[in-house]
Amino acid sequence: MKNIKKFETNSIRAGSIRSNEGEHSEALYLTSSFIFENAEQAAARFANTEEGNVYSRFTNPSVRMFEDRLAVLEGAEQCVATSTGMSAILACVMSLCNTGDHIIVSKSVFGTTVKLFDNILTKWGLNVTYVSLTKLSEWKSAVKPNTKLFFAETPSNPLTEVCDITSLSNLAHESNSLLIVDNCFCTPAHQLPIKFGADVIIHSATKYLDGQGRCLGGAVLGKKTEMNLVANFLRSAGTSMSPFNAWIFFKGLETLKLRMDSHAEKAMDLSLWLDQQDSVAKVYYPGLPSHPQYDLAMKQQLSGGGIVSFELIGNKKEAWDLINSTKLISITANLGDTRSTITHPATTTHSRLSQQERDESGIKDNLIRIAVGLEDIDDIKSDLTYL
Ligand SMILES: Cc1ncc(COP(=O)(O)O)c(C=O)c1O
Repeated sequence: MKNIKKFETNSIRAGSIRSNEGEHSEALYLTSSFIFENAEQAAARFANTEEGNVYSRFTNPSVRMFEDRLAVLEGAEQCVATSTGMSAILACVMSLCNTGDHIIVSKSVFGTTVKLFDNILTKWGLNVTYVSLTKLSEWKSAVKPNTKLFFAETPSNPLTEVCDITSLSNLAHESNSLLIVDNCFCTPAHQLPIKFGADVIIHSATKYLDGQGRCLGGAVLGKKTEMNLVANFLRSAGTSMSPFNAWIFFKGLETLKLRMDSHAEKAMDLSLWLDQQDSVAKVYYPGLPSHPQYDLAMKQQLSGGGIVSFELIGNKKEAWDLINSTKLISITANLGDTRSTITHPATTTHSRLSQQERDESGIKDNLIRIAVGLEDIDDIKSDLTYL
């Protein structure tokens, strides 16, 4: 789709389909299948010689509206919506790789992503090497003749590490590989990885694209050639997005920029405040000048994002005590919600990693992650008075 308008306009207008009823707010097409005029048309739709809806596992107007809008926002040729963020990663890797291929994955990724690679994808003959997100030399040394994909999350969950997308994509392309970036933390409102050279974008729509913690969903975005493979995988494997969820996400995109600006402003405020607390040993937030990749983050991102992680002086007990003392902030592992959430990554989102894997990823027992919501930030600080 052509991206001729500004981001906010596209987030409200792009991808919209209006039915003959003339509705202003886009319709929700809650139907599993579509009817044909006659048997000839049914055959033509199945043979792909006539465009049109067939069955909601692979063609649904509500899903298409979400896909087309997100593609415009990310600057991608095509988007394929999926049932969850995890199924977006699964669909992407299963479509773009064959048995025997090699993938280089950053150690700093969501815990379940590691489990998907280690416990499931390797069973089907894929080889995986883990490297430091920020050390280009490690990516370079890991390249093999059969390397197909580089997989990175930037900023990463939960330590907000940032990688140089341009350098990584240059290396990937020299190695005949594609760079996949999970853009969940910044969203296209605050980071456009394709502009910096990434080939494929992954989203957990469950997070900021929804923005209110209601639905699970995901998306894969990139060039038409690759996305056609992902769409074909989805048609057969069935990891499709439900039309209802697509409609929620589509509506969520309308306020994405406003929300991300506000999440980021409040997260910056909170990280500065946390940095001044005696009981806080270290704050991880890309918007802080003390962040190791601050300059890079400010080049690639519009802000530091909405996630702040910090280490307390102490250990698991101190971390759990702080979490248990909160009354307003929700104790839940989700992020990207209007409501601020607090989690202990070592025993929740990253609990399925081994101790060694957590040590290598820098996820300590005294680490806490806050996904800053849209409440007044003074109320969030007051809720952390235990500090
Ligand atoms: C960075 C990141 N990617 C992917 C996922 C997986 O998304 P989902 O929970 O929608 O499957 C998550 C979930 O927390 C995440 O934080």
